[in-house]
Amino acid sequence: MTFHLVASLQTPGHFRTAWRLPHADPLATFDVAHFRRLARTADEVGLDAIFLGDAPAIAADIGAQPANGIDPLVLVGHLLAGTERVGGLVTSSATYNSPYNLARRFQSLDLVTGGRAAVNIVTTYNPAAAANFGLPEPLDKATRYRRAHEFLSVVTRLWDSWEPGALAPDKASGRYADPARIHGPAHEGEFFSVAGPLPLPHGPQGRPVVIQAGGSEGGLRLAGDFADVVFTVAQTQAKAVAFRDDVHARAVAAGRSASQVKVSLGVIVLVADSEEDAARRTEELYATLPIDDLARSTLAALGLPDHSLDDPITAAELPEIPVSETGSVGFQVSTRALVAEHPMSARELVRHSAGAAGGHRLLIGTAAQIADDLEAWWRAGAADGFTIMYADTAVDFDRFAHRVVPLLVERGLFAPAPVGVTLRERLGLAHPHRQRADEAS
Ligand SMILES: Cc1cc2nc3c(=O)[nH]c(=O)nc-3n(C[C@H](O)[C@H](O)[C@H](O)COP(=O)(O)O)c2cc1C
Repeated sequence: MTFHLVASLQTPGHFRTAWRLPHADPLATFDVAHFRRLARTADEVGLDAIFLGDAPAIAADIGAQPANGIDPLVLVGHLLAGTERVGGLVTSSATYNSPYNLARRFQSLDLVTGGRAAVNIVTTYNPAAAANFGLPEPLDKATRYRRAHEFLSVVTRLWDSWEPGALAPDKASGRYADPARIHGPAHEGEFFSVAGPLPLPHGPQGRPVVIQAGGSEGGLRLAGDFADVVFTVAQTQAKAVAFRDDVHARAVAAGRSASQVKVSLGVIVLVADSEEDAARRTEELYATLPIDDLARSTLAALGLPDHSLDDPITAAELPEIPVSETGSVGFQVSTRALVAEHPMSARELVRHSAGAAGGHRLLIGTAAQIADDLEAWWRAGAADGFTIMYADTAVDFDRFAHRVVPLLVERGLFAPAPVGVTLRERLGLAHPHRQRADEAS
């Protein structure tokens, strides 16, 4: 058995202030050649997929740091055209899309890329997005997840619109397709009314791979019912193991097999030459961060706005989750588990997660130390694979690809996939059981 590896292309890195370092190109976020280089490297070393996150709104802190701007679906189509085997994972919002458009786009991406497409369905917690779609304020979280559930039920049935054999052109008789074998979902629900069918047959994967990344109750229910892959955040091994067990149990309760839901754990890597290089680069990156501001927003996100920046936060002080409608429950649960094991101050928390309020684990070390860590977490049952994020993408992306990946291959932990295999196959996911599109899921 081996684990999967997904590479986040977030630029300039998980330290979004890394654009200020002397070697950085501050415009890389909008440079397609930069993304092409990353995608080609990921493809060459045989990573399973690249990941492009997204939110349909400008970032509130754009005055200080770059954020994703290019539409990731447009970008991924371009990037995968220049590669042979790497998959493309793209975030799309169930709150700000219609099921028909999204189903058609990802079915098309699957065809265009020869079976390498995946959609990360999120409900979008950025409140600024609502105003771009005619809403005076965001829908509450429970409603967003109810909508996402109905959304994925419609999307998956749209993907199944064409039965096998529906497309059978016969030049002699003049029959091109069999309309009796092409069905729309004819869906009428709380949020959507969608007749269908899609105007194209399914792609090589049967259905694009579906990812879910929310850690709240609504997110986990969505994962159990629909996800092939679950993105998650964990600062402690115990939390990660418990989360994976929970996801598996929910899949089984939904009548699915635990082995058909893969948990991909986010981890930020800083790949150092030596202990000295690790210390120097870490301090250099921390120096770009507005630590006090970030510590204050960390405290606000945790529901402790009046806490001192330097006194350790203990689990007992933390209010009940969820603290707010807009924040991420997944990230709050992870931070709570961290301070329960290691009480630390808000300033230390910011350093611990590369500047993101209560974000992903920052793993600093040499290539061998990083390989050891990933191996230990994987052997403990914390994940089926990792979504690798980079402290400073300009440095750590190549170092991970050329120093850490060969060690993982050598140890039999990671196997570069052969060309001509779909993303589903390389992740060990079955071709989805075909269901008649007019049958409710
Ligand atoms: C690895 C990872 C990647 C994520 N990528 C995105 C993203 O690109 N866009 C987004 O809006 N949310 C993203 N999220 C956040 C979740 O989708 C979710 O919206 C958020 O955690 C709030 O929901 P929750 O309260 O259910 O956790 C990501 C989460 C994780 C763990």
